[in-house]
Amino acid sequence: MTAVPAIALNDGHTIPQLGLGVWRMTPEECRASVAHALEVGYRHIDTASFYENEEAVGQAVASSGIARDEIFVTTKLGNDRHTDAPAALRESLDKLGLDRVDLYLIHWPVPSRQSFVQAWQSLIELRDQGLATSIGVSNFNEDHLLRIIEETGVAPAVNQIEAHPSFARFDQLQIHATHQIVTESWSPLGRGEDLDSDIVHTIAERTGKTPAQVVLRWHIQRGLVVIPKSVTPARIDENIDIFDFELTEADMRAMHELDKKKRMGPDPRVHGA
Ligand SMILES: NC(=O)c1ccc[n+]([C@@H]2O[C@H](COP(=O)([O-])OP(=O)(O)OC[C@H]3O[C@@H](n4cnc5c(N)ncnc54)[C@H](OP(=O)(O)O)[C@@H]3O)[C@@H](O)[C@H]2O)c1
Repeated sequence: MTAVPAIALNDGHTIPQLGLGVWRMTPEECRASVAHALEVGYRHIDTASFYENEEAVGQAVASSGIARDEIFVTTKLGNDRHTDAPAALRESLDKLGLDRVDLYLIHWPVPSRQSFVQAWQSLIELRDQGLATSIGVSNFNEDHLLRIIEETGVAPAVNQIEAHPSFARFDQLQIHATHQIVTESWSPLGRGEDLDSDIVHTIAERTGKTPAQVVLRWHIQRGLVVIPKSVTPARIDENIDIFDFELTEADMRAMHELDKKKRMGPDPRVHGA
């Protein structure tokens, strides 16, 4: 079984560098996919209240027979719950059937609501109460990050952001490095659309790996955490089988050339307004 490396967080805890993302999975798909992923060595699951599959994640985790402490579970605070985070986390924990999550994220800053600082203050308290081992944010730009750090003195452990070869996020990674924030790449495969380039195919042929494995390996060698989503057992297997090869420096440079600063998802400055 593949051993996934752990990355150190700025709060003294760690996070497995690869996990299974479960957005857009029905509860049935989610139960089956999480169960399969846990069987083949995944120990990190990324869900959110918005995905409406927290119960399915909890059921698959419970029936896996794997000790709770060996599985890293992330969920996220919904955009309409910024002012109500303690109740929102309790609802998520009830659905997950857990007494704590490993990582709780503010899903989007929704700056027009002017509530993300209050949400961050609540997450700090929830962490101090032991209901979330680590806390972080998602889709926060530099100004959103600076605001919560200035107002609370606490930097998030993680910022989960859109990142894939055509949206490589060089500037954002610099900002994260300044504050020792671990970057988690969402849509790490560009939802499948970043797998077709000649560069990726050439590296895949030379290394005997698939395009998806090459793209995931690129994230890993940048020091990022990846949470590819798949409901296909063979792809779930494929996506974790990336720790037995390396991209060369030339491969990494060639992959960096694919950056088009092209977002697929919403812009955090306006999303959820
Ligand atoms: N924080 C946020 O705002 C946010 C936003 C978006 C996503 N996320 C998180 O990030 C996770 C991943 O993002 P995502 O689902 O948008 O995109 P993704 O992981 O980049 O791509 C998923 C797509 O790629 C396909 N795929 C998976 N493995 C493959 C492989 N080895 N070869 C070819 N195709 C493959 C999947 O198909 P099948 O499933 O049919 O196999 C699915 O269509 C989500 O599940 C969620 O946990 C977070």
